[in-house]
Amino acid sequence: MSHLMTVVSNNQIADAIYELKVYGDITKNMKKPGQFVHIKAGMGTEHMLRRPISICEVNREDETFTMLFRKEGQGTEKISKLKSGDSIDVIAPLGNGFPVEEAQNTALLVGGGIGVPPLYELSKQLNARGIKTIHVLGFQSAKDAFYVEQFESLGETYISTVDGSLGTKGFVTTVIEQLETPFDIFYSCGPKVMLKALKAQLSDVKGYISLEERMGCGIGACYACVCHTDDDVGYVKVCTDGPVFEKGAVII
Ligand code: FES
Repeated sequence: MSHLMTVVSNNQIADAIYELKVYGDITKNMKKPGQFVHIKAGMGTEHMLRRPISICEVNREDETFTMLFRKEGQGTEKISKLKSGDSIDVIAPLGNGFPVEEAQNTALLVGGGIGVPPLYELSKQLNARGIKTIHVLGFQSAKDAFYVEQFESLGETYISTVDGSLGTKGFVTTVIEQLETPFDIFYSCGPKVMLKALKAQLSDVKGYISLEERMGCGIGACYACVCHTDDDVGYVKVCTDGPVFEKGAVII
C-alpha cells in the first residue's frame, strides 16, 4: 500500500548524488537495514513508474528516514527537484534486509558507488549491538564519494577510487588485501562485478550481499528482477526474496 510522505530536505552531496530526507509515520515500520522503498517519481500522469531506492538511515523518534540516490534518468531527475514540504508517494519498507544478528565481533562492510547507502544504517545498527565495524567504500573518483565522515564516525573506514583521486587507487578488493584487522562476517552492496570479486576473495568468510537489480513492480508480481539459483526452484525474486541474500544463495 502506498503512503504520502513529506519531503524534509533534498540536497546534492556528490556528483549526481542526492540526499533525500522524508517524514511520515511508516518510518516506524523500517526495522531491518538493507530494505528499500519504491517511490513514484511524479504526482501527475508523467513518469509514473516507481523507482527503487535503498534506505540509508532511519530515525524512528522523529519519524524521518534518509535515502541517497543517483540522478540518472527522467524519473530520478524529477525526484532530485523535490523541495522541502513537497509530498511523495512511497511504498515502504520493501524486501528483506541484512541479518545484523549474525555478526559476532567484527563485521566488514563493503560498498561500491550507489551500493554504499544501505551500509550506513547497517553500520549504525551493528555498532548499537556492540559489533566493531570496518568500512571499505569504493568509488570511481573523489567527486563521486559521499558519507565518508559519517562512516568514519562509526569505525575504521577505507576508500578506494579507480583513478586514485581519493584513498587507495584501485578497487575495494585492493584495500581488503591490505586489511590487518580480522573480521568474522562481511556485508556488501554494489555492482555484480564487485560482489563476484568479493565472493572469490572472501570465500572462507560468512557473508551477505545485496543485489542492485533492475525492478518493475517491487512487490513480486512482474518477474522483472529474477536472478538464478542452483537449487530446485532455480530462481529468486530480488524485490521480495532479497535484495539481501547469503553469499552463494544466488548465481552472480
Ligand atoms: Fe516485479 Fe520483482 S520487481 S517481481
